[in-house]
Amino acid sequence: MTIPVRVAQGIEPIEGCTVVLPVARDPEGLLIPRGLPSEFSGAVVPDHVDTQWAARQGFEGKVGETLVLRTVDNPAVVLCGIGDAARADAEVWRRVGAAAMRASSKATEVALLLPLPSTIETRAVAQAVVEGALLASPKSNGSKSAPRDGAPVGFAVVPVALEGVSGEDRELVEEGAARGATVADAVCWARELIDRPAAQLTPRRFAHEAVRRLEGDPNVTVDVWRDTEIEAERLGGLLGVAAGSLEPPRLVKATYNPPGSASAPHVVLVGKGITFDSGGLSLKTADGMTTMKTDMTGAAIVLGALSVAARLGATARVTAIAPITENLPGQRAMKPGDVLTARNGTTIEVLNTDAEGRLVLADGLSLAVELEPDAIIDVATLTGAVRVALGPDVAAILGSDPTLVGALRECGKAQGEAFWELPLVDSYESHLDSDIADLKNIGKPGQAGTIVAGLFLQRFAGGRSWAHLDIAATGRAEADDGYLLKGATGFSLRTLVAYLLSLS
Ligand code: BES
Ligand code: MN
Ligand code: ZN
Repeated sequence: MTIPVRVAQGIEPIEGCTVVLPVARDPEGLLIPRGLPSEFSGAVVPDHVDTQWAARQGFEGKVGETLVLRTVDNPAVVLCGIGDAARADAEVWRRVGAAAMRASSKATEVALLLPLPSTIETRAVAQAVVEGALLASPKSNGSKSAPRDGAPVGFAVVPVALEGVSGEDRELVEEGAARGATVADAVCWARELIDRPAAQLTPRRFAHEAVRRLEGDPNVTVDVWRDTEIEAERLGGLLGVAAGSLEPPRLVKATYNPPGSASAPHVVLVGKGITFDSGGLSLKTADGMTTMKTDMTGAAIVLGALSVAARLGATARVTAIAPITENLPGQRAMKPGDVLTARNGTTIEVLNTDAEGRLVLADGLSLAVELEPDAIIDVATLTGAVRVALGPDVAAILGSDPTLVGALRECGKAQGEAFWELPLVDSYESHLDSDIADLKNIGKPGQAGTIVAGLFLQRFAGGRSWAHLDIAATGRAEADDGYLLKGATGFSLRTLVAYLLSLS
């Protein structure tokens, strides 16, 4: 859920707000920023906090820690730790925004006092706190009958500076806050679709939601292929997976083409859009299926990232391709041993129908290659093995182009989204050898599942600059944590946005 964001004009009072004050800590103790007003909206803003006293309340000024100060009749002031001020980067400020949101009273507007100049650029710090705050603001209540618990109803950034806030500073804060809100809005959009039950987000519905979001975006065109076009275009991988479901598949293709960009770099994003993965005839266990409505995460991410690129006016050209289908074991389902022919003519022996993501991505990547772009990036909840390799906080990245992989990892680091590169081991190519087709869709049990999936995809990347993000483990959070909320995280969307904007 997104709430209104604004930048306060001067230090005019904000009715009924919770005031949040960032507090650093150095070896000597807690540090309250200098130049704060002594009073804000009726709240008494302290110019000093006793370090020992705060420690007894469990507050040491660590990043994201909060301490609520209340005095009778006055609005609450929340101290929010930023740790070592010299090391406060965008990720720290994002966590501060989130903590401010969580610690503030229900039904109030959060007013975050933002001391300038900050450790990082003014625009970046404003963007980061707004992103953090909006990403931490509670999700909708889904299908619960009871209304959602109360939460803050608005977020205000109140820039403060020792020498007074200049007009230029205020403009930068406004720009940053607007960017943060645009990014967070797309992440929340993606999260909401990912969290939606599969019965409510069929492939048709998903395509409809994508069109609804993207058609108004500047310089964006959206095209949806229905089953007839998917057949005519010979997307054999997508058709194979879709065969087991009564719900027809869709392919969404969105293009962002800014004016005068003919020579700008062109990036094609491809996202896995399985709205429910039962495994097909190679049926998953009941437990293994419980979160499989999440299996369209990649598609939501690439469409959301394109939308942000357009709204923020990236100069790069961007295309997002999302093959969308259910993977079910219906009567016409593809069977183990069947051979599919992908869009690029490659034949695939399907030995496990649960390795379906790579089948739809084979077509998506083939289409990407036909556009002859400068880079192709695919995003997919592709393998359970990636959780074994890297756990829930780090995603895998594999690719043919070290420069692209390096750039994405750097962007990820700045966004608080960690990617670790796994190698495309040449000798494992043989794991995909098939007796009857060009390759099979699984490798050897228990051996480098994430890498072998990457090698499979590489066969469809046409030798172009290509990277693959496996977000199977990072796509969902088990519990609220910082600016992540339980359920869909939207992991990798902000990294893609940062990468696309870095080409500008
Ligand atoms: N969607 C799953 C991967 C997945 C697993 C995502 C757990 C999120 C959490 C994918 O389609 C799949 O089933 N992969 C198989 C591949 C195997 C059959 C080669 C897997 O990882 O078990
Ligand atoms: Mn599967
Ligand atoms: Zn899957």
